[in-house]
Amino acid sequence: MAAYLDHAATSPLLPEVKRAYLENLDLIGNPSSVHSLGQSARRVVEEAREAIAAAVGAHRSEVIFTSGGTEADNLAVKGLFWHRSGQDARRTVIISAATEHHAVIEPLEWLEKEQGAEVLWCPVNPRGELDLDWIRNVLSDRAPEIAFISLMWANNEIGVLAPISEITALAAVHQIPVHSDAVAAFGHTQVNFAESGLAAMSISGHKLGAPVGIGALLVSRKTNLTEVIHGGGQERGVRSGTLSAALAVALAEACRLAVTDLEAKLEQMSGLIGYLREQVSTLVPEAIFTRGDAPAISGNAHFMFPGCAGDSLLFLLDTSNIAVSTGSACRAGVADPSHVVIATGRSEVEARSCLRVSISPQTSRAEIDQFLAALPAAYASARKAGVSGR
Ligand SMILES: Cc1ncc(COP(=O)(O)O)c(C=O)c1O
Repeated sequence: MAAYLDHAATSPLLPEVKRAYLENLDLIGNPSSVHSLGQSARRVVEEAREAIAAAVGAHRSEVIFTSGGTEADNLAVKGLFWHRSGQDARRTVIISAATEHHAVIEPLEWLEKEQGAEVLWCPVNPRGELDLDWIRNVLSDRAPEIAFISLMWANNEIGVLAPISEITALAAVHQIPVHSDAVAAFGHTQVNFAESGLAAMSISGHKLGAPVGIGALLVSRKTNLTEVIHGGGQERGVRSGTLSAALAVALAEACRLAVTDLEAKLEQMSGLIGYLREQVSTLVPEAIFTRGDAPAISGNAHFMFPGCAGDSLLFLLDTSNIAVSTGSACRAGVADPSHVVIATGRSEVEARSCLRVSISPQTSRAEIDQFLAALPAAYASARKAGVSGR
């Protein structure tokens, strides 16, 4: 039996989503066509938009379909920067954090290098929590220069939550828009776009049991973005391109399922993660639970295993049919030291010693037990190999 404990990387297609997707795959008609087949496809897309809006707490006109989280983040970051700096040339400063996903960090660094932006990186403590006093001070010192803030709702590696409503409240005093990457948060904590006070928020379908290739950027009706993809003017003119009705339906079904009985699912995932954490601390007392007791999403456990490389552990567990992750990006089959863990003030060696277990509401206790049964031997072997791994 395989234990799949890497839902934060991608979560398997849910049967209900697959059914809804397949039912709409052979729809004929471009949703932008005026004939009746096109209009039928348009209706399907608009119903999906409505369902996504209901699930995330938004208005249907606030849902901009994208190909996934990376595109949603790029559209938010570049679109907000170009719009705000275009309106007022002084607004070139962006507040973000070094613990963001690469889908936010890379466009920010590109804006700095190529487009005259200045990014101010919010410090984080060893548990991964943002320094709100630092944000408060930067806002009061430099508000007229700030284009926007981009801070993720939940960190995809260590699971820690950001106090999004507090951040939007601080920014609102200066009318500064806030974008949040909610790819790791939606379905793993309570997320409501309207209540959050956010100007924009990214979600991704394949983290929720939809196929890869669909996501959305929620953009409040008060917020304007400069378009990033030019073309036929679809999606409020900011993201041109023919929409896939079947993918839109799949995302809608995944979002609907994500929020159905969410409180019970969060409790169940927290229960499994609590059990896992307790057992790991008995089996491997040296293991460090990275975020400590900071507020976090329900389905994530991130550990540092001193004296060994996370990718050694990952490969050893893989031989026992257990799929986990180091949490960080992988180049040529070797894990990079986690930029998130380094940003929390840890050393490169510590940032290479990480292992992330990420679960979904479908995860069983048996899968966790399979991981726990294999862990002590894998840890012993990985320690022998040392911190540099293979
Ligand atoms: C927090 C976060 N943001 C963005 C992304 C990118 O999303 P996608 O894979 O849909 O492009 C990911 C995927 O790992 C993620 O975890």
